[in-house]
Amino acid sequence: MSAGFAARLLAWYDAHGRTLPWRRSTPDPWGTWVSEVMLQQTRVEVVREAWARFRDAFPEPVDFAVADDDALHRAWQGLGYYRRARLLRDGARQVVERHGGSVPSGIAELGALAGIGEYTRGAIASIAFGHPVAAIDGNVERVFARHRAVRDDVKKTATRRLLRTLVEAEIDRARPGDFNQALMDLGATVCTPRSPRCGACPLAADCAARSQGLQEELPVLPARRAMVDVAARVVVVRDSHGRVLGARIPTGEINQGQMELPGPGVLVDHPGDAQALAFAIFARHGAQLRIGDELTRVRHGITHHRITVCAYAGELSGEAGDLEFLDPGDPGVPWSTPARKVLAKLDG
Ligand code: ADE
Repeated sequence: MSAGFAARLLAWYDAHGRTLPWRRSTPDPWGTWVSEVMLQQTRVEVVREAWARFRDAFPEPVDFAVADDDALHRAWQGLGYYRRARLLRDGARQVVERHGGSVPSGIAELGALAGIGEYTRGAIASIAFGHPVAAIDGNVERVFARHRAVRDDVKKTATRRLLRTLVEAEIDRARPGDFNQALMDLGATVCTPRSPRCGACPLAADCAARSQGLQEELPVLPARRAMVDVAARVVVVRDSHGRVLGARIPTGEINQGQMELPGPGVLVDHPGDAQALAFAIFARHGAQLRIGDELTRVRHGITHHRITVCAYAGELSGEAGDLEFLDPGDPGVPWSTPARKVLAKLDG
């Protein structure tokens, strides 16, 4: 008889778990919260460096609660999906207002904070405060759907509830945070979506999917949303110092608050000639530009959009409207990722 589920999992974690900067022997609720928000949509390798930079810039929730938009954008650079960062700041403000600046240890209080959903609440509660609650991300979902051969769509409410019950029945009550993170690591490095390495898995002996040859079929996921190709045009206008015209992206649009190159706007552009482009820019920015030749194209993916950004040369022929000349290399300017990609390609 092999050791219990949690014992095997934790022994594997102690030997093979990943060494990550936010995994510390002393609880660090704010650092845990920040790492979990960053990891929601960004790969671990990218988060490593960004997390340390963020933690230095904002050691406590109150430091981030008072950050302005530009400081927020600088701290989040390279991570994308800036909405998460704004929600994290809302949450930090609530921690200051409601809890005197300390991240609350209660599960309900955590869950009531901005940007903290079921997963993040479980992760912080278990990792930072030792509550024996599940934190089910895509990796954990896959490990359990396979181990118990769950054949229903794992995103359905009833299946999610079942998975939570299964995880919480196995959770190690002395090390719940390590238990959850061990499942995440196992899912990321062994029980991978394709070609799982069952030979290296501490749970293989009683894995139902493996015994039925279903490990490649499970978990059952809903159909993916189709990718949509969209085109966007921007104009690069330089002054004699090499500075480039840019404008703040309005609230309500993708990448709001960051700086864009003049154009009709990322998801609202539609094909047209140079004159139509100049008119769209006048309508959006109040600026009069003359459009020249195409300079370059870059690609940028965001959620289910595959955006091809086409950049044209241009010059100012009249009013500048809400555009201003900005230094393309200044790290203090929160250029949007599409703008950053265009400028990097042009300026090498
Ligand atoms: N993904 C999200 N949170 C994680 C964590 N704490 N450890 C490993 N992978 C993660």
